[in-house]
Amino acid sequence: MTQIFSLQGRVALVTGASRGLGFAMAQGLAQAGALVVLNGRDAATLALRRADIEAAGGQAEIAAFDVCDRLAADAAMDAILARHGRLDILINNAAFGVPRDFFDISDDDWRLSLNVALDSCFRLSRKAAAGMVAQGWGRIIMISSVNARIGRATNTPYITAKAGLEGLARGMATELASRGVTVNCIAPGYMATDINTKFREQPGQYEWIRNRTPMKRWGAPEDLMGAAVFLASEASAFMTGQVMVIDGGMTVAI
Ligand SMILES: NC(=O)c1ccc[n+]([C@@H]2O[C@H](COP(=O)([O-])OP(=O)(O)OC[C@H]3O[C@@H](n4cnc5c(N)ncnc54)[C@H](OP(=O)(O)O)[C@@H]3O)[C@@H](O)[C@H]2O)c1
Repeated sequence: MTQIFSLQGRVALVTGASRGLGFAMAQGLAQAGALVVLNGRDAATLALRRADIEAAGGQAEIAAFDVCDRLAADAAMDAILARHGRLDILINNAAFGVPRDFFDISDDDWRLSLNVALDSCFRLSRKAAAGMVAQGWGRIIMISSVNARIGRATNTPYITAKAGLEGLARGMATELASRGVTVNCIAPGYMATDINTKFREQPGQYEWIRNRTPMKRWGAPEDLMGAAVFLASEASAFMTGQVMVIDGGMTVAI
């Protein structure tokens, strides 16, 4: 039974895997047997994360590039294909927020947010999917957010990017479904990572989210490991274009 969750022989690229949710999901894929290529912008940090995965008995490589840099991203993906002859799994995870009141959002803020959290995912997915279609098997996972469906003040570009990412997944899923490639999203709730340190430190916000979550806690990066392995493996073979919400019950409760 556990065989359908095995990622033995698979090659995965996880963007934004130097910390937080991306690193936890990379650890999950490596534990299930995949060789995981860790992306982020800082090679030295990625080397430490690779060592962590190897110390736990997994296989990892690093690919330092900014996901907004088209040429660097293309070159990194070409290098993975040259080394391994395949890329089976892509997790589009890298992103950051640019918190601003709506009327303070400049065109540059808007463009930057959508570039990192949506445009880059389109470009990486387009390139990865071409190889996946050629080999007849692939898994693309977009890291969305509960904020794709429920808003929060000062977060409009991020909310827009995440809603777009779910649309991108549905569009790609429809076209690629008959060619062996599935495209799904994970929408995490509020997970304690660097991305929301400043928000958590504002008076009352940590408690507000904790109390707004039926499980009465913030999520931890490890809470995404199982979902990532499921969506990357044979276990999810008949599922595409969907959003797995992992939020401690936040979006099913008022
Ligand atoms: N934490 C939450 O509550 C939550 C909830 C819903 C959705 N999410 C989503 O989950 C994903 C991961 O967030 P997180 O909470 O793990 O954030 P995080 O701890 O801040 O980690 C972000 C990761 O993305 C990388 N990154 C940022 N910009 C990049 C770029 N331009 N190119 C390449 N790598 C880049 C960072 O590495 P470097 O800085 O070293 O480059 C880091 O590894 C994001 O898509 C976020 O929107 C998070």
